Amino acid sequence: MSQRVYIKTVGCQMNVLDSEMVIADLKRHGYTLVETPEEADCILYNTCSVREHAEEKIYSALGTIRPSKQKQPDKIIGVMGCMAQKDQDIIFKRAPYVDMVVGPGQLHTIPDLLDNVRNGEGRQMAVSLGRKDDKQAIVARSHETFDPLRDPSMRPTPFQAYLRIQIGCDKFCTYCVVPNTRGPEQGRPPQQIVSEARILAEQGCREITLLGQTVNSYKFRDNGDVTDMSSLLEMLHEVDGIDRIKFVTNYPKDMTERLLITVRDLPKVSPYLHVPAQSGSDAVLKRMKRGYTIADYMEMFERIERILPEAAVSSDFIVGFCGETDEDFEKSMALVERCRFKNSFIFQYSVRPGTKASEILEDDVPREVKADRNHRLLEVQNRVAKEENAKLLGQDVQVLVEGLSKKAAETADPEAQVVQMTGRTQCDRIVVFDGNRRQAGQLLEVHVDDVSAHTLIGRVKTVDVVSISL
Ligand code: SAH
Ligand code: SF4
Ligand code: F3S
Repeated sequence: MSQRVYIKTVGCQMNVLDSEMVIADLKRHGYTLVETPEEADCILYNTCSVREHAEEKIYSALGTIRPSKQKQPDKIIGVMGCMAQKDQDIIFKRAPYVDMVVGPGQLHTIPDLLDNVRNGEGRQMAVSLGRKDDKQAIVARSHETFDPLRDPSMRPTPFQAYLRIQIGCDKFCTYCVVPNTRGPEQGRPPQQIVSEARILAEQGCREITLLGQTVNSYKFRDNGDVTDMSSLLEMLHEVDGIDRIKFVTNYPKDMTERLLITVRDLPKVSPYLHVPAQSGSDAVLKRMKRGYTIADYMEMFERIERILPEAAVSSDFIVGFCGETDEDFEKSMALVERCRFKNSFIFQYSVRPGTKASEILEDDVPREVKADRNHRLLEVQNRVAKEENAKLLGQDVQVLVEGLSKKAAETADPEAQVVQMTGRTQCDRIVVFDGNRRQAGQLLEVHVDDVSAHTLIGRVKTVDVVSISL
């Protein structure tokens, strides 16, 4: 009988994509995907280490699964992803009933490791080398991806897909675990990326989101030739069937004039730019080792405003980083007011073992202060987002329809003809409107009647003639 696998994914888009790959690989090996851990023979957790809370969530899920593992010792439990790479043996110590630990650079080993567990070979672990374990090139080789394996059934919608163009990170911001868990920065060969985009288009995908930790730093060197992000976008723009191209996450220092002009001149490329500032204070940015000042960030921001006046810019902020004073924090508030981001993800600083900040800086901002700053920054961000959205009132926006809105998915009568649908604009704004299920996957013109901080509410103007087959 075929093995049934269940996978739970937390963390960033990289993890969502990794889960898609792992499931595609396991299906090739005869596994079937199931919806609940109860019906599974094998339970996989794809984990994240970026904040302590993300790790605690997984350790607590592992605790919850323990009784069922005791009852059914043959159920295989695997921990993969960034926490697997970071904690390694610690996972076996904290949860001795875990059978397999696999880092994000070793995911291709999973089918074999699962066979080994079933053959009674005991616990299995596959992780990449640490940053200081060997020469850079050898460490880099131990972080592998096996991207071309795709499985549309794992995606939130069949017409949208992530496409990795870069793995790892070399920026070493002092608070961040990612350079340790994902290893050295490596651009994937452009030909591989383009051929993957073609496969995705053949599978009915209309929108691709290119992924990299600092995606706009993308470079691939082949003898003397260098392909940068702009050249790659030009190549991908030629792929028939792909109508929209997005890319996340951008590093402020690499947002060059050349790249912005490329975005402006290629109609399929979304003028949505996620460029995290992290803080509005130079002193904090310096301790974070972000490599830019607020003057640099503003210079970049003004370049965006000049070349791409229609662009939607979004950011991430960390509040309560080591030594952040009230004055520092007020500067983050001011930056949100000045840049009027489309949205910002706001995080309270969480000390991460193995990072520079954990070694040399004191986590001295009290928990309540972090929570209060988080709340206040979010309030300002929500106000400016709503004000910016209000500018779209009465306008028509082009929406790639994703499916039923969250509300409709929970409450709509399955027989209902008119249901609330949701999608996104080319600038990544969420739009809801009354429509029908068949519109999923279509590009529609929607007239904006109302707005909130996170959503545009509208009605359909025209019907797209090129609907794709699902
Ligand atoms: N590569 C991306 C983001 C990686 S992690 C970039 O450079 O922008 C996603 C976000 O998590 C970061 O932008 C940062 O805001 C937040 N983050 C990272 N480490 C954190 C930590 N130790 N505590 C709190 N937030 C953190
Ligand atoms: Fe982490 Fe900084 Fe790299 Fe982003 S750029 S992944 S925040 S080290
Ligand atoms: Fe988390 Fe790893 Fe992504 S630490 S944010 S899953 S790169």
